[in-house]
Amino acid sequence: MQRSSRMYLAARMTAVLYGLLTIPYGVAGDLAAGKARAVACSGCHGADGVAITQNFPNLAGQNEAYLVGAIQAYRDGQRHDPTMKAMVASLSNDDVLNLAAYFSSLPWK
Ligand code: HEC
Repeated sequence: MQRSSRMYLAARMTAVLYGLLTIPYGVAGDLAAGKARAVACSGCHGADGVAITQNFPNLAGQNEAYLVGAIQAYRDGQRHDPTMKAMVASLSNDDVLNLAAYFSSLPWK
């Protein structure tokens, strides 16, 4: 194999490996942005995603895809709860992904 094609192969392998390593983070939400947004949720769901009383669900450690679906369902009207609808009405899809990534990353208690 010629030196130039070996270099090309190495570059390709690096690109593929880099892609594999970054895909999960590229698709999932941004934890820091989610944490910042989650301040608005902490009054009921707790600062650490564990609800402040038994009347509210815990979100810590919940499945990320489930959280995305639940938040969007409140926002888009498939799931009905007046409180939650008001809480998430103005969230963008990116906000939802970020919040879901953040709450699912917290330890389940
Ligand atoms: C004023 C209290 C309150 C605040 C603040 C609040 N929630 Fe909720 N949340 C609730 C209640 C009550 C429910 C249960 C509603 C129901 O019965 O569907 C709920 C349900 C949820 C669920 C569904 C949980 C499950 O197990 O299905 C998610 C996800 C959620 N909230 C996310 C959020 C996010 C994200 C925020 C901040 C943007 C937020 N909530 C702010 C009270 C609140």
